[in-house]
Amino acid sequence: MGQKYIPLSVPNLKGNELAYVTNAVETEWVSTGGAYVEEFEEKTAEFVKAKGAVSVQNGTAGLHLALLASGVTDQDEVIVPTLTFIAAVNPVKYIGAEPIFMDCDDSLCMDAEKLLAFCQTECSFIDGKLINKESKKHIKAILVVHVFGNMANMEKIMEVAREYQLQVIEDATEAIGTYYLNGKYKGKYAGTIGNVGVYSFNGNKIMTTGGGGMVVSDDEALLHRIKHLSTQAKSDELYYTHDEIGFNYRMTNLQAALGIAQLEQLEGFIQMKQENYQLYKKHLEEVSGLSLLEFRPNIRSNHWFYALQVDENYALNRVEVIHYLASENIQSRPIWGLIHEQKPYMGSRTYHIQKAKQFWNTIVNIPCSSNLTKEDVARVIHCLQHPER
Ligand SMILES: Cc1ncc(COP(=O)(O)O)c(C=O)c1O
Repeated sequence: MGQKYIPLSVPNLKGNELAYVTNAVETEWVSTGGAYVEEFEEKTAEFVKAKGAVSVQNGTAGLHLALLASGVTDQDEVIVPTLTFIAAVNPVKYIGAEPIFMDCDDSLCMDAEKLLAFCQTECSFIDGKLINKESKKHIKAILVVHVFGNMANMEKIMEVAREYQLQVIEDATEAIGTYYLNGKYKGKYAGTIGNVGVYSFNGNKIMTTGGGGMVVSDDEALLHRIKHLSTQAKSDELYYTHDEIGFNYRMTNLQAALGIAQLEQLEGFIQMKQENYQLYKKHLEEVSGLSLLEFRPNIRSNHWFYALQVDENYALNRVEVIHYLASENIQSRPIWGLIHEQKPYMGSRTYHIQKAKQFWNTIVNIPCSSNLTKEDVARVIHCLQHPER
């Protein structure tokens, strides 16, 4: 028999998931009307200390609605990162708006200094509107992604947003549970600092509903509009009156049943992820040419994904590392291809993208599931310590 397969990031469903889903099935409340949906919304809002939450079918749908409710139209531009999953940027295009691609800093999240420099040198600020000098279009929002459970530099990004009157949409799809430990935003969770934040409960995330998402905000009018848009913009339940084009984006009771059970265990999952991260770090630091990317020091990160950096001092390059681990029955993957280099975005505006390219060339994500055992971690470490095998 071959060695046990160690996947990259898989669900951990050993709490009340089966009991709650069984209840949803037994009571025959399986669609969007069941009581778990509202309970999950309330509990998520409470967990991240937001005024409210609206559930959605997935993070992508949540971002789509967050952009629409923030007033982004097909006449506008939105500043986005290039180093992230493409689902963060596609909703900008769903609306017909244009993305402007920004570089990342050492946290892998959007470089706030370059963001400021772009606004100062490439734009004019006229009558409270940031205008792109080249396209003459209104830049209405920044879509910031908290990559791998890290926190973007929200202090600086919010300063820029205030100065130029930009909406801030937080793609916190990977970062539920991450919060500031000190500073201006002490105690604030990723997703609750900008105007609106979005979480994903996709199967590979720290908590899952199979597929699902949640939009959070302190702006109740905005949440109200998002819920309206997510339910076909129905303004009268009985007579089926609709006041605009809406979407069928609301979460089902089956998904929410899973979500509540997962949320109950989230702190435990984070603790496991932190412990395994520390274990990897301790041993991999000793290997020449390898290092584990750190999370921002003034935050409690959810440690969702571990980013191994492979430099030229290591025996293998990052592609060889992925093949080597696969031969040992261990799943790993390169970081995403940069979005501005993907076919649909090749003509889009970019601004001094350098660091994202370097990270693209060197990062490998290694197994990080919350149910990863210490033996699994030891096996991955052992393989990485002996690349010559
Ligand atoms: C950064 C980022 N944005 C958006 C999404 C989209 O979330 P979903 O898969 O729930 O649509 C994901 C995850 O899949 C993601 O990692």
